[in-house]
Amino acid sequence: MVGSQAELGNQVIGAMKDELLASLEACGQEHLLAFWDELDQGRRDLLATEIRGIDFALVNRLYQAGGASEDVCQLAGRAGPPPAFRLETSGNRFTPEEARHRGAEALRAGHVGVILVAGGQGTRLGFDHPKGMFPIGPVSDSCLFRIHIEKIVAGSKRYGVRVPLYLMTSPATHVDTIEFLGEHDGFQLPQRDLHVFCQGTMPAVDANTGKVLLSRPDRVALSPDGHGGMLAALATSGCLADIRNRGIRHLFYLQVDNPLVDICSPEFLGYHLLSDSKLSTQVIGKRDPLEKVGNVVEIDGKLHVIEYSDLPDEVARRRKPDGSLEVWAGSIAVHVMETALLERLAGQADALPLHIARKIVPYVDPSGRTVQPEVPNAVKFERFIFDMMPLAANAIVMEVDPARHFAPLKNASGEKADTPETVKAQMVAEHTRWLRQVGTEVDKGVAVEISPRFALDAEQLAEKIQPGTRVTEPTYFC
Ligand code: UD1
Repeated sequence: MVGSQAELGNQVIGAMKDELLASLEACGQEHLLAFWDELDQGRRDLLATEIRGIDFALVNRLYQAGGASEDVCQLAGRAGPPPAFRLETSGNRFTPEEARHRGAEALRAGHVGVILVAGGQGTRLGFDHPKGMFPIGPVSDSCLFRIHIEKIVAGSKRYGVRVPLYLMTSPATHVDTIEFLGEHDGFQLPQRDLHVFCQGTMPAVDANTGKVLLSRPDRVALSPDGHGGMLAALATSGCLADIRNRGIRHLFYLQVDNPLVDICSPEFLGYHLLSDSKLSTQVIGKRDPLEKVGNVVEIDGKLHVIEYSDLPDEVARRRKPDGSLEVWAGSIAVHVMETALLERLAGQADALPLHIARKIVPYVDPSGRTVQPEVPNAVKFERFIFDMMPLAANAIVMEVDPARHFAPLKNASGEKADTPETVKAQMVAEHTRWLRQVGTEVDKGVAVEISPRFALDAEQLAEKIQPGTRVTEPTYFC
């Protein structure tokens, strides 16, 4: 009896290997089973699950196509400036007051939710946890998650509504994020308004051969499928249904790395609504033609983002007769998007293209040794959320002041820009500006920080602070 059970087991395992092998051979990826016979059953199951989740025909097709950079160069040649609400408001179709009024109306009606994307691996920062956990408050040491979530909690209070947060993680950040938020009681955002959902993955392939890499003998080298993976993940996680059921019509979208985002800005929401835009984007006037941000441009009547790395230098340097840059609008990756557009695109598997990028990816070689390459050896595939732009009717951009609204944390201390030090300095400068605006004296060189729970802007600050107050030592207003 025992013998026959063991035999049966071996047959099942053998059949499993045969089935996997057949499908892998059909697309030239059978090397993924190189270590199969050495694995125990638990590890075989893991590997089998990963392999079954991969669309190898798609991976091969993408690898052979070799990316879209030629198309992008061609497109870039026809790029012009996008329709924009500028900081110099005289040419704008609506005034900031009109916009703020309309945006506040939508907020009060409970039509707005927030999407925060935090699935990136934060490799450049060299921080071994999800970036949202990075302590960035210049006085408080508050982490990015806390700052963002407190803004949502304070906004809910201000407009007397529930503002749900849909927070996207990836397999690399999911468990840590959930545990961390649990330990901090969701930073006071009610549990029913906090939805953490996990994005999908794509395998990395060897840049020379197109073979999918193994990160371990029993694991495929998988990485997050880009923030554009949000569309599919919103649908499969049930978040999209929740958004629909709550009657949320517009989603305010931000990246985890920028603590200066004015989350649910009524002015931004207002321009979006008054323009009947389906997808709106905040931009900065680029300070350098080659600044490392996505470029928002209009091509053949549609808005597109062209990454700095894809924009030919001669196009980036083009100037108008008045000397200003033609490709002036740098995306800070803050959007408002219509629920209806999200729903339409989430229903189409290939609504957003997959981009390819050359990256360093450690892998297991045929002898079972782990190799740590020093130059890019692999190709990764990612979808970008901003590729929704050409698919969105009436898309607009709104210019914001980079000093006040764009402090992305990208790099480790010691790098030139976008480091913890530069971000903290910008936060201090912005909060000092608010304090001075309401008649508070802040001594030179003194660090100040204002918790979103205390005030979301200078207007709210004025209700809390007596004019004539003087700040002489590092202070956290909370
Ligand atoms: C991004 C934009 C760039 C913009 C800049 C502003 C892209 C390709 N480029 O650059 O146009 O000017 O921000 O700061 O996005 N993320 C996920 N899942 C993923 C990958 C990323 O959730 O699979 C999240 C990250 O957690 C982060 C955000 O997306 O919040 C941006 O990712 P990052 O790789 O930092 O983008 P950048 O190249 O810095």
